[in-house]
Amino acid sequence: MRARPIAVLNGLGTAVPERVVPNAEFERYLETSDEWIRERTGIRERRIAGPGESLTVLCRIASERALERAGLAAADLDAIILGTITPDRRLPSTACELQAALGAGKAAAFDLAAACPGWVYSLAVAEGLISSGRARNVLALGAEKLSTVTDWNDRSTAVLFGDGAGAAVVQPAGSDGRGILSIVLGADGKLADLLQIPGGGSCHPVSEKVIQDGAQYIKMAGREVFKAAVHTMAKACDQALSQAGVGSEEIDLLIPHQANLRIIEATAKHANVPMSKVMVNVDRYGNTSAASIQLAIDQALEEGRIGSGSLLLLVTFGAGFTWGAAVVRW
Ligand code: ACO
Repeated sequence: MRARPIAVLNGLGTAVPERVVPNAEFERYLETSDEWIRERTGIRERRIAGPGESLTVLCRIASERALERAGLAAADLDAIILGTITPDRRLPSTACELQAALGAGKAAAFDLAAACPGWVYSLAVAEGLISSGRARNVLALGAEKLSTVTDWNDRSTAVLFGDGAGAAVVQPAGSDGRGILSIVLGADGKLADLLQIPGGGSCHPVSEKVIQDGAQYIKMAGREVFKAAVHTMAKACDQALSQAGVGSEEIDLLIPHQANLRIIEATAKHANVPMSKVMVNVDRYGNTSAASIQLAIDQALEEGRIGSGSLLLLVTFGAGFTWGAAVVRW
């Protein structure tokens, strides 16, 4: 393997829908409370897409911001990789729709299904394309409209999710040490049933029965997923730190997938990173799956918590199960 860093993140952009949905909205029709949601998850509100806010539109806004920050024209992109499980259409990929919307005429484009770790998986693929010399300018995205696969009458999942998009321009690393120092990916398909959308795929195509059963929506065994998330993210952090040759005390900011504040706290404790060095914004957006780490990075940049040269530890976990972690010199 070539010495790292091979690839660097040169610009990041995000987008969220306009509509803010506070916990109080669920109190009106579900047996739940703002207090329960805040205590058990840390979530106060989330963004839910309305008409006109397709996944392509959210991705386009995030991408244009990322390209502008990187000082790159869409026409110069060689590849667009979009981590998502909620594409606008089953066919074609949303990455292709985005390619057209951006005017990125020479870019190869494809979606990548890895649930919440979709963006970290996309970064790893981008790094691989750059490493092999196949691409120099890659747009790596993670974006989700989980509102379209959420059962709004199931209190155990409805309160958790939100919509959003995040994009990064990934390019060959220079000699200044900035870039992806390590990246770890993993999966355990034996646990697939714990977090799934059973209907609407080729096994159980859309039918009256699928709709009657609500099988087109996310089903989650919350407690089991919680335990696996804590255990797996802890291990992934260890691996990413060790591959980068970095001690946890050197990390400036831990940016975990924003699913649940209690999972974030347990992950930070295991990684030996104090909460003062952990980025949390699950309160504002809920779980936006493949968009959540970029939304957290963007807010941290805005707040001045990340500067050039900051050492970041990213870690994520989701359906599959899948996971990913990376150490990045910003
Ligand atoms: N309001 C009030 N009560 C609720 C709600 C709600 N919104 N949801 C569940 N409850 C109830 C349950 O019915 C249960 O009641 P019971 O004891 O009478 O059966 C009780 O609260 C406790 O339920 P638990 O599931 O044990 O609650 P827990 O503390 O585990 O919190 C939660 C549930 C928030 C879902 C948690 O398990 C969790 O965050 N799990 C992980 C989710 C996650 O990280 N997913 C990541 C991947 S997502 C992706 O890939 C798309």
